[in-house]
Amino acid sequence: MDRIRIFGGLPLEGTIAIGGAKNAALPLMAASLLCEESLVLSNLPELADIATMEGLLSQHGVAIFRGAAERRTLHLNAQRIASTTAPYDLVRKMRASILVLGPLLARCGHARVSLPGGCAIGTRPVDLHLKGLERLGAAVSLEDGYIEARAPRGLKGAEIVFATPSVGATENLLMAAALAEGETLLINAAREPEIGDLALCLQKMGAGIDGIGSDRLRISGVKALSGAEHSIIPDRIETGTYVIAAAATGGRLFLTGTRLDLLAGVARALESAGVSLTQKDGVIEVSRRSRALSSFDLVTEPYPGFPTDLQAQMMPLIAIAEGASVITETIFENRFMHVPELARMGADIAVHGASALVRGVPRLKGAPVMATDLRASVSLVIAGLAAEGETVVNRIYHLDRGYERLEEKLAACGARIERESDGA
Ligand code: UD1
Repeated sequence: MDRIRIFGGLPLEGTIAIGGAKNAALPLMAASLLCEESLVLSNLPELADIATMEGLLSQHGVAIFRGAAERRTLHLNAQRIASTTAPYDLVRKMRASILVLGPLLARCGHARVSLPGGCAIGTRPVDLHLKGLERLGAAVSLEDGYIEARAPRGLKGAEIVFATPSVGATENLLMAAALAEGETLLINAAREPEIGDLALCLQKMGAGIDGIGSDRLRISGVKALSGAEHSIIPDRIETGTYVIAAAATGGRLFLTGTRLDLLAGVARALESAGVSLTQKDGVIEVSRRSRALSSFDLVTEPYPGFPTDLQAQMMPLIAIAEGASVITETIFENRFMHVPELARMGADIAVHGASALVRGVPRLKGAPVMATDLRASVSLVIAGLAAEGETVVNRIYHLDRGYERLEEKLAACGARIERESDGA
């Protein structure tokens, strides 16, 4: 198992190129199952999760080619669906595999998808996906750890009210409704920008969709969708991660290929802590306004609120701010696994249920720590960059699911960071 060794305390200075959004790329790749023609996706990040989705789609029969000159462009052709089963061995690697359920069912009238695994950050049910598909007329059952969904005569448009906004369920239903007969109304839909990106691509493929960016999506289904070309939006979580790393180390970074408007609630939170964030000519500049950071409270919420996927990264920053802050996690239970590890580095954090009381300390100190889920892993890297002395982050395999060339990008900005494999 790989580990990352960091000699901390150096401010990050330089320019980092941000990649396409993993969480937009995954549903967009699944959308290729909806039509016989090719879907061409550009600005794709090079990540383990993307490779997992490629593997899953290939076994469904999708022919996948990478641009010869442009490795970030993928051509996906699902002219022939070879299998409507998403097997356990592939699905357990990545929870987002559930995103093939809606497209396969809508296109083929049948889908068999293993119940997903993924990051260990709570129970993460899929009931909203299944109830929504039932509303579209599918018969859904659970058999031997698999979701069996059938709609032999096709899906029919309906009104679906989500009990809680779910990114994945909104995406699955959006894709399924695009091939359903008649009109579907999704109410209390999630509004994350990655959903908007999927909706824009489905429009290019011929689906009628109104209300993009809002929590009410109206979809006019069509008999068949056509191929399209689409460039994936920038990764707001990767962007936010480097913004936080710059602020935590007291450095100054320029981030290219991304957009400040995607950060919404994050920018507000950071500005109240004393971080300066501006965008000029398509480049985000981030630095601290003063030497000390101020405490501030944070609540994770569906978009446009503060994203749960940046909560762990904020913790080391808040841990070295002056005063006490409260971080409340409302999206996932069990998403404070980085807290005991940060405590090993001298952070003063007490968890009470869904809230963490963080009392600022003047500095963190390097220590050996253990990474758990994807975002917790990068939170420990940020802590190591900001800390005095040496930090070794063990079990970092999750990092490659969501961050492309993380050490390389950080090292180019002055960080002393290297990856070691066992035996190295
Ligand atoms: C997506 C993101 C993930 C992010 C999360 C929340 C992708 C590939 N992953 O995950 O990085 O952390 O959004 O922003 O885009 N829920 C149910 N029943 C369901 C589905 C969800 O109760 O059927 C609950 C979940 O337990 C959770 C909340 O709804 O409490 C939000 O989850 P959801 O938005 O569905 O997350 P994902 O789509 O899995």
